[in-house]
Amino acid sequence: MYYNLLQPYSLFFVTITMIFILIHVPTYLSADDAQYATCGELLQCANIPNIGYPFWGGSRPESCGYPGFQLTNCQGDAPIITMEGQQFRVLAMDNGTQSLTVARQDMWNQTCPTYLYNTTLDFNLFSYAANQQNITLHYDCIEIQTQTIPFRFDCNVNNTPSVSYFTSSTISLPSISNNMTVCNKSVSVPVNQTSGAALTSYSATVAKMEAALAAGFELQWAANNTRCTQCSGSGGRCGYNTTTLSFACYCSDQPYPLICNSTSSGMYPLILLVFFGFRSYGFQGADYLFSFFLTIVIGSSKFQVLWESSLRNGFFIK
Ligand SMILES: *[C@@H]1O[C@H](CO)[C@@H](O)[C@H](O)[C@H]1NC(C)=O
Ligand SMILES: *[C@@H]1O[C@H](CO)[C@@H](O)[C@H](O)[C@H]1NC(C)=O
Ligand SMILES: *[C@@H]1O[C@H](CO)[C@@H](O)[C@H](O)[C@H]1NC(C)=O
Ligand SMILES: *[C@@H]1O[C@H](CO)[C@@H](O)[C@H](O)[C@H]1NC(C)=O
Ligand SMILES: *[C@@H]1O[C@H](CO)[C@@H](O)[C@H](O)[C@H]1NC(C)=O
Ligand SMILES: *[C@@H]1O[C@H](CO)[C@@H](O)[C@H](O)[C@H]1NC(C)=O
Ligand SMILES: *[C@@H]1O[C@H](CO)[C@@H](O)[C@H](O)[C@H]1NC(C)=O
Ligand SMILES: *[C@@H]1O[C@H](CO)[C@@H](O)[C@H](O)[C@H]1NC(C)=O
Ligand SMILES: *[C@@H]1O[C@H](CO)[C@@H](O)[C@H](O)[C@H]1NC(C)=O
Ligand SMILES: *[C@@H]1O[C@H](CO)[C@@H](O)[C@H](O)[C@H]1NC(C)=O
Repeated sequence: MYYNLLQPYSLFFVTITMIFILIHVPTYLSADDAQYATCGELLQCANIPNIGYPFWGGSRPESCGYPGFQLTNCQGDAPIITMEGQQFRVLAMDNGTQSLTVARQDMWNQTCPTYLYNTTLDFNLFSYAANQQNITLHYDCIEIQTQTIPFRFDCNVNNTPSVSYFTSSTISLPSISNNMTVCNKSVSVPVNQTSGAALTSYSATVAKMEAALAAGFELQWAANNTRCTQCSGSGGRCGYNTTTLSFACYCSDQPYPLICNSTSSGMYPLILLVFFGFRSYGFQGADYLFSFFLTIVIGSSKFQVLWESSLRNGFFIK
């Protein structure tokens, strides 16, 4: 049955298929869902490149991130993330372990901030990583007569020069810690244990304490991480539906609530059907056509779109 290329019915199929491929495929290849395309573009914010979900800000819209993960100051020296009204400098982020290294903006280059407040996080979204410890800065203190000079620094509190001390969770000065007759104010700041270790002995210095504050501390983030992994695994891009206020999975054809699962299934049976249809009519070129078609379709990852529209057009069915 081979070599009867001139059989009219085969020719009809070949012609129509070629027309379909040449005219329709390029259209579908560029028919990206807008959100899918937008959210595929990673953000460069200040000194940190390749930032993706759940972060947004700058050129990256909220729908590509998760609320609470907005980055600002992208034209400045470091990205800023704001939690519970407090600003933190983002020093590093690791998408693989979903961890973020931040430093308090008000304390990263100085130890005498204008307003004194404890470090607070949005615990719905963030948690302290393991291996962090707190240091406490005590302000507005009375002079204590001990050999603790390394722990002492000076700050103006309410425009009045005053004595300050710092303590860490592993080395505290009994007469200072929580002793309101010694200090009026205290602020707790997490630091990582590496930095903290330098503050655990009496060889600690104010410079080491400042270095610890500047090196920051590590957080873990939770922004529907599991959903994002599942969405990514299905070929989608994670985001947030600002209408339904919930996670969104942007796929090449359209957004889905969780994962890319279109209603259609399996283009392969269809291709095989056409392939064997051609072969049974004895068209030798079917093999080449088949490989050509497969290459385009699989390479494009748009075969769901293609399949749906071919169903709609009814081309293969007719
Ligand atoms: C971050 O991880 C997610 C899920 O594993 C992945 O889809 C995404 O591409 C990663 N983003 C970057 C910027 O590496
Ligand atoms: C700390 O850094 C901020 C912002 O980078 C800057 O405005 C401020 O003057 C700096 N403060 C000191 C004491 O260097
Ligand atoms: C910070 O927390 C400690 C312990 O809970 C508290 O004693 C202190 O007053 C707080 N400091 C500020 C500035 O709120
Ligand atoms: C540090 O203090 C905060 C409260 O200010 C607390 O939530 C956190 O668990 C403390 N971290 C460590 C390692 O003790
Ligand atoms: C705490 O503040 C009050 C009022 O500003 C002041 O009179 C007192 O001396 C301060 N206490 C210490 C320990 O500095
Ligand atoms: C608090 O400080 C005062 C003055 O230095 C000292 O007499 C007192 O023993 C301290 N209290 C505690 C619980 O350390
Ligand atoms: C702690 O900070 C130091 C100095 O920046 C860094 O080298 C180290 O990796 C950090 N360690 C942890 C456990 O975050
Ligand atoms: C993630 O999704 C769940 C719904 O399963 C929702 O309840 C939760 O608040 C979402 N947000 C975060 C930060 O995990
Ligand atoms: C948000 O969800 C609504 C309702 O499910 C849906 O109609 C809309 O297309 C979604 N928008 C995006 C951008 O995902
Ligand atoms: C797509 O996946 C969601 C969540 O797993 C499920 O609820 C929905 O029924 C699926 N839709 C189709 C068409 O398979």
